[in-house]
Amino acid sequence: MPEPVRLAILASGSGSNAVSILKHFQASTDVDVAFLGCNRPPDKAGIYDRTKPFGMETEYFSKADLNDGRLLNTLRERGIHWVALAGFLARIPEDFVRAFAGRMLNIHPSLLPKFGGRGMYGMNVHKAVIAAGESESGMTVHWVTEEYDQGAVVFQAACEVREGDTPETLADRVLELEHTYYPRTIAACIATTAS
Ligand code: GAR
Repeated sequence: MPEPVRLAILASGSGSNAVSILKHFQASTDVDVAFLGCNRPPDKAGIYDRTKPFGMETEYFSKADLNDGRLLNTLRERGIHWVALAGFLARIPEDFVRAFAGRMLNIHPSLLPKFGGRGMYGMNVHKAVIAAGESESGMTVHWVTEEYDQGAVVFQAACEVREGDTPETLADRVLELEHTYYPRTIAACIATTAS
């Protein structure tokens, strides 16, 4: 039997997508979530507590670790083949992008190319969608390139923006889509590239 693909998850915040990915691959023999990393320290991000029940420690890395190649070295040492960004809010350096070209996905809480780019992350996106009077929003899974939110789209799912929605209620609806579709999109992409 082939060895499982070793997947790293990088996050910055509450980690709900990281949890949905962990759950999806918990019993998988094809994919092993082998690294969980966060660029915010444990007192500033919920992911550390959230991932403990899965028997996995989330590891903190600094901006310098990301930009000086130390994180990339760590992932190489751990034999990581694939990366899923899950609410990761820092820019990925070019050498890191090249190292995982075609093997790194990101999730974004809008229907790209709408509401993407610099400054468009997390709640800012949902505020902008409501302020623009959009009737629908959703989530996008895309390949990671050097430019924010510009890699080719792999999968999108839409939901309505309802009358009276706040950024928080819209975020909840979009997150539900993310939790449903991101893990299975990762699995499908890995299955395609692994064969
Ligand atoms: C998610 O909605 C994700 O799409 C978004 O941050 C949230 C993280 O939630 N990512 C971006 O905005 C990236 N540009 P989580 O920490 O609970 O998974």
